[in-house]
Amino acid sequence: MRHVLILGANGAIARLVRNNLKAQADMQLTLFLRNAQRITDVDPAKEKIVEGDVLDQAALDAAMAAQDIVYANLGGKADQAAANIIASMQKNKVRRLIFITSIGIYDEVPGKFGEWNNRMIGQSLAPYRKAAALIEQSDLDYTILRPAWLTNYDEVAYEKTQKGEPFKGTEISRQSVAAYVTAVINEPTLDVRASVGLDKPGTDGDKPSFY
Ligand SMILES: NC(=O)c1ccc[n+]([C@@H]2O[C@H](COP(=O)([O-])OP(=O)(O)OC[C@H]3O[C@@H](n4cnc5c(N)ncnc54)[C@H](OP(=O)(O)O)[C@@H]3O)[C@@H](O)[C@H]2O)c1
Repeated sequence: MRHVLILGANGAIARLVRNNLKAQADMQLTLFLRNAQRITDVDPAKEKIVEGDVLDQAALDAAMAAQDIVYANLGGKADQAAANIIASMQKNKVRRLIFITSIGIYDEVPGKFGEWNNRMIGQSLAPYRKAAALIEQSDLDYTILRPAWLTNYDEVAYEKTQKGEPFKGTEISRQSVAAYVTAVINEPTLDVRASVGLDKPGTDGDKPSFY
């Protein structure tokens, strides 16, 4: 049985991952979120809901006990969240972390799209940048994700770039990010201590097609 803690469980990608994992027999999910009444369809045989804020260290520590994998799907103060998550994982001897950040945190996006991306979201990347640095400095088995611009298209198609490589493409569906997160949860040796850019193949351009 694998115990997976989903932080920010009502987030759009987290909901898709939850659906993928619920179909599997060997999963025990802890759904950690602010305002728990938003999830009404809990399967008590497989799921436990914990209401909490990741910035509350005590709440996080309590949810962390006996987990195998932590999947953080958080916006907002990602740097403070990362610091709390690392501390809690170390206290509880949990090693495997999947943490979503954003395209652009290493200035890895080339060309005109890179300039456009930086104009659009450059000013909001600092917490993600710091979160990634904290995670990389830790001794955890982490996979940091850097998705391209997110769509809600009902499709799964992705390619990866590793840290140090120029980012490819401009967009990616949330379904695709969820499929990749699900793949890592099912095969935790995949992309260990890696920071992975995710995009849909063939979406190179000066900006995402929907802009
Ligand atoms: N939009 C894009 O094109 C794009 C591109 C690359 C990366 N990203 C990033 O990808 C991530 C996942 O995307 P998404 O669509 O799933 O985002 P989302 O729907 O906004 O989900 C983020 C979740 O984080 C939760 N959260 C934030 N701070 C929290 C805290 N302190 N404690 C507990 N939960 C907290 C939010 O909870 P509440 O529901 O309680 O507010 C929300 O449910 C986001 O961080 C996003 O910024 C976005």
